[in-house]
Parts: sequence; C-alpha cells; structure tokens
Amino acid sequence: MSIISLSEEQGMVQNTAREFTNNEIKPVASINDREHLFPKDVIKKLGELGFMGMNVPEQYGGSGLDYFSYILALEEICKGCASTGAIMSVNNSLVCSPIKTFGTENQKKGFLSDLAVGKKLGCFMLSEPEAGSDAASMKTTAVLNGDHYILNGAKSWITNGAEADIAVVFATTDKTLKHKGVSTFIVDMETPGVTIGKLEEKLGIRATSTAQIFFEDCKVPVNNLLGKEGEGFKIALHTLDGGRIGIAAQAVGIAQAALEDSVRYANERKAFGKSISDFQGLQFMIADMATRIEASRLLVWQAAVMKDRGIKYGKQSAMAKLFAAETAMWVTTKAIQIHGGYGYTTDYPVERYFRDAKITEIYEGTSEIQRIVIARETLKEIQ
Ligand code: CAA
Repeated sequence: MSIISLSEEQGMVQNTAREFTNNEIKPVASINDREHLFPKDVIKKLGELGFMGMNVPEQYGGSGLDYFSYILALEEICKGCASTGAIMSVNNSLVCSPIKTFGTENQKKGFLSDLAVGKKLGCFMLSEPEAGSDAASMKTTAVLNGDHYILNGAKSWITNGAEADIAVVFATTDKTLKHKGVSTFIVDMETPGVTIGKLEEKLGIRATSTAQIFFEDCKVPVNNLLGKEGEGFKIALHTLDGGRIGIAAQAVGIAQAALEDSVRYANERKAFGKSISDFQGLQFMIADMATRIEASRLLVWQAAVMKDRGIKYGKQSAMAKLFAAETAMWVTTKAIQIHGGYGYTTDYPVERYFRDAKITEIYEGTSEIQRIVIARETLKEIQ
C-alpha cells in the first residue's frame, strides 16, 4: 500500500470500516441506488460504531478520533457506497465539526451528543438557487427580533435535507455588508416555518436526499447563533476546508472500488484465447488507474495530517479534492471501458461508481473553485 504507517488505532478504524463495508454496505448498495432508498439501518449502525461523530470529543458523546482516522474510514465506506459516505461526511465534517469548533458549551452539550451517535442527523445549508459557488451572494435573511432571529429564504442542494433533524444554516443578518453580514445558525428542522421542498432526481449518490428547503418566518432562538454575527462566511469556508478532504477521500474510495472490480474482471474475462489482463493495452490502463489513485490518496492523507497537526491546510485540501475527484471520474470511465458492454449495464457496479464519481467534482466546491483556492495560495507563496 504505502510507506506511511498507521497507528494501531488508525489501523483498527480502517479494518472496522472495511469489514462493515463488506458485511453491511456492499450487499445493499446497488438496490439502494436503484430504488433511491436512504440507508437508514446502515446509518444507525454507523452511529453505533461511532462513525457519525468521529472527531467529536468523547465528553460530547463522540469517538474523539483524529481527522486521519475519519478519512481512512470514509474511503472504506465509499468503496461500498458513495451515498452512505456522503451522508456520513456531511454529518461529521459539515455539521459536527463547526458546532465543535465554533459552538458554545451549551450548543456542544445540546447538539453534539445525539448527532455523534447517529440518533440525530445533520445537514449543512449554504447554497441557494442563485448562490452556489458565489456563496456570499445568498439571499436568506435572519432578522433579530427580541430573543429570536426570524429566518426567511430558500436553500438548495441540501444533502440529507429530507431526513435531517438538525441544520447548520447560513443567512445574512446584514445584506449591505455582503460576506461580512453572513451569520450561522443551528436550526432544529422541526421548527415551524421550515419546509422541505423538491427532492432532486440525480445522476448519482441516489441513496441520499438532495432537497430544497424553505424558511418562512422561522423563529430561531438567539442562543442558536453559531459564532458571532457576521462570522458566518468564515465559518462556512473554514468548515468546507475540512469537508473537502472528506470528499477527496470519498473520491479515492470510489476510484479504488472501480480499480479492484476492474482487475478482478480483467483476470476472469477471456478474449482471443487469454485473460484480457494479459493484454498490454489493458495493463497500461490498470497501471495509470493505480498510479493516479495512489497520488490522490497521498494528497488526501497529507491534508488530513496537516489538519491534525494544526498546520494551515486549505490549499492542500483543495488540491486533494481537485485531484482525487478528477481521478475518480477518469478511473471510473476506464473501469467501464475495461468491463466493455457489461460495464454499461447495471449488472456490474462500475456504472454506479461512474455516476457517483461526478458529484465529487461539484459539491463542497466545484473543481473550478478548488483551482481558484489553489491558485490564490500559490500566487501568494511564490514571489
Ligand atoms: N477559511 C476562513 N476564512 C476564509 C477562507 C477560509 N478557507 N477563505 C477565505 N476566507 C475569508 C477571507 O479571509 C475573507 O475575509 P475578510 O473579508 O475578513 O478579509 C473572506 O473570507 C472572503 O474571502 P474571499 O474574498 O476570498 O471570498 P470570495 O467571495 O472571493 O470567495 C471562494 C472565495 C473560494 C470562491 C468561496 O466563495 C468558495 O469556496 N465558494 C464555494 C462554496 C462551496 O464550496 N459551496 C459548496 C456548498 S456545500 C455543499 O456542497 C452542501 C452539501 O450538502 C454537500
């Protein structure tokens, strides 16, 4: 595998995730994808395993593990089902993480314990119908009224939107200040005034919900303001820096699954009197797939280690996501080619990997946004 050695604990996490994926996730992944079924039982079990709040300190009910362990687990889970990985990653890195980092003691005590064990599920509401990459142009408003904020607006592309109990919501408390007027709120999805709108019909990660959410005079207690008023944009970008390493790990998991299936298929499939893996044309594909995956994984691991060590890692996170996502798309395309006509059908999971890979180039910042982040940092660093 790699010369980077894992600690005993990290190795255990990786093995546990691998076994869980083989026993619990792989058997249901195709049917959940085909039928658009949210993997409720799997998520419950992931909660019991401590995988829904892996970096949440034990005092708040989490597993208290490092980010590297989380990344290792996520890659394994996504080898079986990228939808399950997406649900897990949103809860861990987009919901538990900002509450852990920016929350008050009461917010941590009040929200983290249920989220960390999978009793409750979280979602992250930043994007809007007209504010995706340009997140600061959001229109959802939050107006202070006594001991509550009143939220109004619409959010889009919300992973877990239909099932979530708790949402981390971004809204503007002062539109004139643009990004400096964005604030963050922890919202109970049962609050009157929150409604779930259209569920998207998607190309991939079809076992997740991707919902539109509406806020209509939704009263959120002042105590649920996360961080200070006006800090929301920084909370969003800080959170996404970490989340993007998770999406990169998801992409590596999808690509690794495609590689493993391709090798097995190539060894079994015969053409012109021999296994197709005996042909050099195919071997070169396998070589390029394996090399790109290894390079992606090393970028992911580097970003995770930097985060764990408290080193600035935004550029490395963007590089990992950019490279791993494009690798996943490339590798899954080759995987279908290796499987030939069979790869184009639902008889083999490679078509699902191909469809699932695409979202990693889009959500938590498109590949173009990652290039902006990388270019800005690189231009600053080199004089
Ligand atoms: N961490 C903290 N603060 C940061 C930061 C970071 N990584 N990057 C920038 N900032 C700060 C800046 O310092 C600046 O602060 P000041 O005004 O105090 O100086 C402020 O944020 C604004 O920075 P920019 O001028 O660089 O902002 P910008 O408008 O040019 O945007 C961007 C930068 C990189 C393009 C950013 O908007 C971005 O990442 N957009 C993509 C959004 C995104 O990833 N959306 C995904 C939605 S989540 C999702 O997919 C949901 C799901 O369910 C999976």
